[in-house]
Amino acid sequence: MTKDLTPLQILTELEPVAEQNLNRHLSMAKDWNPHDYVPWSQGRNFAALGGMDWALEQSKLSEVARVAMITNLLTEDNLPSYHREIAQNFSEDGPWGVWVDRWTAEENRHGIAMRDYLVVTRAVDPVALEEARMIHMSNGVQSPDGWGGFLTSVAYVTFQELATRVSHRNTGKACNDAVADRMLQRIAADENLHMIFYRNLCGAALDLVPDQALPAITRILTNFLMPGAGMPNFRRYGVLMAKHGIYDLRQHLEEVVQPVLKQWNVFDRTDLGPRGEQAREELGEFVDKLAKDVIKFEEQRDRSLAREATRGAGRYT
Ligand SMILES: [Fe+2]
Ligand SMILES: [Fe+2]
Repeated sequence: MTKDLTPLQILTELEPVAEQNLNRHLSMAKDWNPHDYVPWSQGRNFAALGGMDWALEQSKLSEVARVAMITNLLTEDNLPSYHREIAQNFSEDGPWGVWVDRWTAEENRHGIAMRDYLVVTRAVDPVALEEARMIHMSNGVQSPDGWGGFLTSVAYVTFQELATRVSHRNTGKACNDAVADRMLQRIAADENLHMIFYRNLCGAALDLVPDQALPAITRILTNFLMPGAGMPNFRRYGVLMAKHGIYDLRQHLEEVVQPVLKQWNVFDRTDLGPRGEQAREELGEFVDKLAKDVIKFEEQRDRSLAREATRGAGRYT
């Protein structure tokens, strides 16, 4: 049996792939300015500067859109914690280091644009938003079980970037506002490029050390936590977003989990030893169970939405 490679050996082996994908990213990424996505003419002073403080009736967004925006923005706000995790588990040297800093700078742009939009349009309560940001950032990242080391980190961010892409995209649609939709489409396009970088690197790790990488992927998927885990109201907001198609179990399975596993050729690989095979089997069972849970979730959701409709309520409690 061959000896496992250490994280440092894996990073060194994958450095040429990191460089290639960094260059690919830089050639494809578009620079954009957050201020171009904010309707500044709608802005007004708050009470501290002689204007009026926020009140719910000022918001043009539905409750679902507000909750989704808050969840997505707080996730972006938690960037320092994500930067720390990535910087600690990837190398800070060479193309790895360049990637970590570039990625961080791009992510920061997302939070800037979304906050400016929400505050200027008075779409959400800015005081509650700030309180939630303080709590969420003070809690830091809620690590999925077994997080730590390069392989689990790169597996996690692959799925996490794709999940945020889906969530931003659907939040844009739910806002029913062309400016918000354009902004979130722009952000979702960034998340897609981030996902491709991580997916390609994790795929290369799978080719390099399949029996180490596949257990890491299985561990991350079977313990998957959305990046917003730990923020105030995360459960309630998550349920609401799932119920209204911002990010639900079917999207998780069909738009996030399955396409990536297919890209990595997980279920048809022939390079696995016993440890990799066992992880693949566990992953296969997990995916099958997820598919069954999707059906159960949708039945429950349909019943719940039907009950709400007969109550004639626009309330989502
Ligand atoms: Fe982002
Ligand atoms: Fe991203």
